[in-house]
Amino acid sequence: MAKNPKKSTKKRPLAAVILAAGEGTRMRSRKAKVLHEVAGKPLITHVIDTVAKLSPEHTIVVVGHQADRVRSHVGEHATCVVQKQQLGTAHAVLQAKKALSGFDGDVLVLSGDVPLMTTKTVRRLASLHRRTDALATVLGMLVDEPDGYGRVINEGPGRVRIVEHVDASPEERRIHEANTGTYLFDSKFLFSALGKLGTNNKQNEYYLTDVLAAASTNARARALTVEDESEGIGVNSRADLAQAEAMFQERLIVHWMERGVTFLDPATAYLGADVRIGRDTVIGPNVRLDGHTTIGAECVLDGMDYLSNTKVGDNVHLRWGVVASDARVGKGAILGPYAHLRPDADLGPDVHIGNFVEVKKSKIGAGSKANHLAYIGDTTIGKQSNIGAGTITCNYDGFSKHRTTIGDRVQIGSDTQLVAPVKLGNDVFVAAGSTVTTDVAAGSLVFNDKRQLVRGGWVAAFRKRAARSKR
Ligand code: UD1
Ligand code: MG
Repeated sequence: MAKNPKKSTKKRPLAAVILAAGEGTRMRSRKAKVLHEVAGKPLITHVIDTVAKLSPEHTIVVVGHQADRVRSHVGEHATCVVQKQQLGTAHAVLQAKKALSGFDGDVLVLSGDVPLMTTKTVRRLASLHRRTDALATVLGMLVDEPDGYGRVINEGPGRVRIVEHVDASPEERRIHEANTGTYLFDSKFLFSALGKLGTNNKQNEYYLTDVLAAASTNARARALTVEDESEGIGVNSRADLAQAEAMFQERLIVHWMERGVTFLDPATAYLGADVRIGRDTVIGPNVRLDGHTTIGAECVLDGMDYLSNTKVGDNVHLRWGVVASDARVGKGAILGPYAHLRPDADLGPDVHIGNFVEVKKSKIGAGSKANHLAYIGDTTIGKQSNIGAGTITCNYDGFSKHRTTIGDRVQIGSDTQLVAPVKLGNDVFVAAGSTVTTDVAAGSLVFNDKRQLVRGGWVAAFRKRAARSKR
């Protein structure tokens, strides 16, 4: 198709500024507000990830309160500038002026405490800003309870003003269009306008929102309203945090349902932002999946399972009450009820780990089973071996940990202790109730020489004696 020669297809350069210097007094926390988490990820990281998808030429994060801690979460996608004193959102943006000297284009400003904003909406905002040749464009949202938010007031074409809740008149407070704290500005206009702002308001702060009024004098201010109010939720208190979390969970669960995952009780499933789930997997009630957990296709999680940073293959069945962290589970495995995989538990395909079995730093080969009441630590187990009920690898001597090695097709009888370091070759049989302290060669039977003694009629005689002495 021929291009319209008059219409420039060249996009204006984009820079992003994320405001994250505030303390967040209303959180009543020792931690900076933007480090509080939604879906297991700090608020600031959500915003940085959203911005990264737009590939701006510059991304600047304004830090101040707990600058070093916030900086450590910023990563390589952005540079930090410090706002020493928190004098308001306009003053915060001004701190990015030096880093953006020589930049000529659009500046996207976002709040570090608005974690659910999507890249799609920011793109729509940028497109309105460019189409209307605006100097300042704000993203508003319609909310039932706008208290606390600035109100977006449309005053005719190209004229938009924002009034903060505390400064608003009773009529202005009745406006339900709230400022999401997301804006696009022409860079030259922005920094020139910021230099001229005062603090004539109830909070004695430099308000970024006043830049809209400045652009209105040229009739070049615009506002876009986002339909989904969850996108603009600003986290200022613990109640806001809980609300943002609930809304984000709903978004995540819908996302995975659309990709073929069933949730028996969506209201009680809790997912981390970076979790992945395969098609036709069924998630039962009260399941929590954290961090970089990956669940394969066609798995069943009965319920009450808590996995973090754990990789689960296809067709795995997690019965009730499985807890796993930093573990790997091969395809076709069956776990629980009440099984505990600690870091570096690495289960091969078709492994069975049953009730009250704990596995740590151990590799278990294909088809091996430990179905009841066992502790497997610092151990390597081959294929098709069976670990009997109550087996314990005694891996710790009070000073250091030692390894246990178990071959293929090994049968370990119930109530066995394997005192590490110890090696059992392939096809070894361990009799029930054994304490194994030295290596056992392949194909051997190992048992402890404990004789079984029986005294016939002893009980009746004992009871008689006991009854007599009581009289
Ligand atoms: C701000 C907006 C309000 C909007 C709301 C949306 C202003 C004046 N008001 O109010 O219209 O409805 O966001 O959530 O902009 N920050 C700094 N340095 C400062 C002050 C704040 O970096 O000196 C940062 C904070 O860390 C925060 C963001 O800017 O991430 C917004 O500040 P906050 O104090 O939460 O402003 P709101 O009262 O929510
Ligand atoms: Mg806020």
